[in-house]
Amino acid sequence: MPETRKRPTRRSWAEPWKVKVVEPVRWTSREQRERALDDAGFNTFLMRSEDVYIDLLTDSGTSAMSDYQWAGMMLGDESYAGSRNFYHLEAAIQKYYGYRYIVPTHQGRGAEHILSRMLIKPGDFVPGNMYFTTTRLHQELAGGTFVDVVIDEAHDPRAWLPFKGNVDLNKLEALIEKVGADKIPYVSLAATVNMAGGQPVSMQNVRELRALCDRYGIRIMLDATRAVENAYFIQQRDEDYRGVPVAAILQELCSYTDGCTMSGKKDSLVNIGGWLALNDPALFDEARNMVVVYEGLHTYGGMSGRDMEAMARGIEESVQDDHIRARVGQVEYLGMNLLEWSIPIVEPIGGHAIYLDAARFYPHIPQDQFPAQTLAAELYLDSGVRSMERGVVSAGRDPATGDHRYPKLELVRLTIPRRVYTQAHMDVVAESVDAVFEEGKKTRGLRMVYEPKYLRFFQARFERL
Ligand code: F0G
Repeated sequence: MPETRKRPTRRSWAEPWKVKVVEPVRWTSREQRERALDDAGFNTFLMRSEDVYIDLLTDSGTSAMSDYQWAGMMLGDESYAGSRNFYHLEAAIQKYYGYRYIVPTHQGRGAEHILSRMLIKPGDFVPGNMYFTTTRLHQELAGGTFVDVVIDEAHDPRAWLPFKGNVDLNKLEALIEKVGADKIPYVSLAATVNMAGGQPVSMQNVRELRALCDRYGIRIMLDATRAVENAYFIQQRDEDYRGVPVAAILQELCSYTDGCTMSGKKDSLVNIGGWLALNDPALFDEARNMVVVYEGLHTYGGMSGRDMEAMARGIEESVQDDHIRARVGQVEYLGMNLLEWSIPIVEPIGGHAIYLDAARFYPHIPQDQFPAQTLAAELYLDSGVRSMERGVVSAGRDPATGDHRYPKLELVRLTIPRRVYTQAHMDVVAESVDAVFEEGKKTRGLRMVYEPKYLRFFQARFERL
């Protein structure tokens, strides 16, 4: 009966690659997971990866490289100075990001360290569209005070805005009026704001930010870690950029800024590496001098030649429209599944991760009993899926008062590595999240029993209450 044949209502897309090498992962028993979690003090950062089934701790350094990148690794020139791979990397950054001068670093925080020490004086203020952990810490260690100037909606997991990472220009101008432009070395602008749920900034917002900063003579330093993902959102959500290649959007975005710090471990599809890019020759001169103190010579900055080659090739792959569409598309696939089952997540769905709203999973657990830390633990117990707390533990303590910082967002991040997991893995994750959500009311919070001084979320230990 061909007339009544049931036909699919969809036409699917698939990743623009096929698998050539596989790495086994291990399923564990509930008993094994109880033990592993206990040994790790309920902190997913302290677990052994062997005890993890699907690892969504981070998208940092966890990407699968292509055959083209692996082939490039064989061409590593491991000369101490002037490695040919450095020049390939420099050319790729100049071509795709458009900055003039490049200083390689071992990863993003190496670049943040150099930038902060060069530009921030004690007593300065550094405004930014929401903090990032390592970025803010380097600003504080240099004597600066980070000031959050992201739009209010970024702190509301339910607010639906296409560009929820935007800078609130009124907040920024009020700060400039209050402390004076000479106390603001630069605006720290993040592309797709990690802590807000991977939310992008709009091109118009960055353009207006440029105009405002020009009026006061203030620099803009971009955190370009996930700027390609941001460029993709601009292509999808801004009428003016429909059909414009992501590579062109990325270039325009960067052109409004004076330089960037970069963790190549994200967008650039490598396992290690980063850089600092600058347009000002005098600043470049200083950075190139500082890098030899903290990272390595200015033509390797802590990376091997093969690492630099892999990154040069990764950058080229990362800006291809079919790559970035599949990358963000997989995150959206997981998110749409969860939304269909009314699981509370941050909306709109971000570029690199799904953020579970732990406050709505566990309304009965107060923030000083760490709801998000608890949720990450429960998810691991249910299925061996590893995630990351992004709430009160990550926010740390206020250096002035010593109290916990209580962020409005109490989240668990399910971060999707690039080109690593399949749609079936995403289904397993979604079903496990649903099971944990269903258990909600019965779950108890945690108590912190060990707290390190810096970036405590990495090494703190907890016990069940
Ligand atoms: N900026 C952003 C927005 C980041 O997400 C990270 C790292 C860094 C800077 C620092 O870069 O790790 O290479 O030193 N984020 C990782 C994450 C750790 O899991 O989100 P790095």
